[in-house]
Amino acid sequence: MTGRRTYEVTPSAARLTRSLRDIGYDFPTAVADLVDNSISARASHIQVIIEFDGTDSRVFIADDGHGMSENALVEALRFGSRRDYNAGDLGRYGLGLKTASLSQGRSVTVTTRRSASADRVFVRELNLDLIEELDEWLVIAPKPDKDIARAREILGDSTGTVVLWRLLDRVLPEKRPEGGWARRRIDNYARKTAEHLAVVFHRFLEGLPDARKITISVNGEKVRQWNPFAVDEEHCRELTAEQFEINVGETSGTARLRRFVLPARTQFSSPEEFERLSGPLNWNRQQGLYVYRADRLVQWGGWAGIRGIDEHTKLARASLDFDTSLDSVFNINVSKMRVSMPPQLRQMIEASLNELCLAANAAYRRASARGNMPLHLGADQTASAPSTDLALAGLALRSAAMQAGQYDALQSIFTIIRRDAPEIAAALGLAS
Ligand SMILES: Nc1ncnc2c1ncn2[C@@H]1O[C@H](COP(=O)(O)OP(=O)(O)OP(=O)(O)O)[C@@H](O)[C@H]1O
Ligand SMILES: [Mg+2]
Repeated sequence: MTGRRTYEVTPSAARLTRSLRDIGYDFPTAVADLVDNSISARASHIQVIIEFDGTDSRVFIADDGHGMSENALVEALRFGSRRDYNAGDLGRYGLGLKTASLSQGRSVTVTTRRSASADRVFVRELNLDLIEELDEWLVIAPKPDKDIARAREILGDSTGTVVLWRLLDRVLPEKRPEGGWARRRIDNYARKTAEHLAVVFHRFLEGLPDARKITISVNGEKVRQWNPFAVDEEHCRELTAEQFEINVGETSGTARLRRFVLPARTQFSSPEEFERLSGPLNWNRQQGLYVYRADRLVQWGGWAGIRGIDEHTKLARASLDFDTSLDSVFNINVSKMRVSMPPQLRQMIEASLNELCLAANAAYRRASARGNMPLHLGADQTASAPSTDLALAGLALRSAAMQAGQYDALQSIFTIIRRDAPEIAAALGLAS
């Protein structure tokens, strides 16, 4: 170095691993981060097995992907694994396997086989108790036990990887981890996980044009994909697709927008399908922009701050796709659950989304006129939501401005109304 004194400050393994447990995963999102790894390893079948056994409860996430060599396995357990990524790779930070696993339990054991012809299976473990005791970044070769034997059994004769979570201190309740309440909690996590994976990986479950279709099971039950856009419904309407070129500094790429007006209740093929398409968050909160990174859903529910959720636009859903080349612009977070919309893009897509919401509003009104949807506030609307007539006035203003080519001018006017008369802005349904 240039003659300056330097000081080596190795992080404290005990403290840092403890802090990294809390970077925002919950149980389903932690499992999803491991499914990313399995998909990157070209797995075609992924099994999630959640077994309740009091304090010995365990979770297996198993795949039939390409597995790892012994060295690769140890590297995989390094916080900040050293490796290069290809375009479209779901991984980015070299952290997910460790941070997701340890966010739920104190031990993660990985069993892997790289070549089907060799019967060598490698097993390594990261154990927080040991890391805290010795304050060192250590990976261990664990002694065989019944859970590891089970992992081997799940692996069978093929290549692949089985990740085992144990000492589930964040999953089990502190009080009475053996009791009925703990069991129900685990059952609930299994259900939520299946629901989450069905949404996040729906394109992989449907089958992508240039990749093998994957299957995922949770406790032996096959996960059925949940495509938010009701594409199989005859009366689903798609508006023209659009593309946006994004250039920020050295980074450039394309974001693709598709816009859908879903059918109203009576236009659906069956009441059951209407209910199913309502989704985990239900129709109102399930409206909005679905953001995909390399075909994996990373954010949904609402309009990413571009507009507010509104009963009248609940039939509107849109997909926004970006490639990993735009990661830095979208600021994808470690748990792959959040992006920040680049301001440049936000401006570009606002008019397109408003156009979609107008179409969805018109469909909603037609359905209401036919008497199958209340025009006035639904039960799921909050007291602070805009009243029907004023919200419609807001939409009509937007539509007129768009047709007159004065949309930007209207945005400036809205900014002033939001600043000077926030209650009127809220009544008109203007997103803040
Ligand atoms: N199921 C698996 N099969 C094969 N290799 C795996 C598997 N899981 C992890 N790996 C290897 O371990 C490495 C580290 O995984 P980890 O999830 O920690 O980081 P990442 O996927 O590279 O990035 P990110 O932090 O964005 O998830 C991966 O890059 C991959 O090489
Ligand atoms: Mg990963």
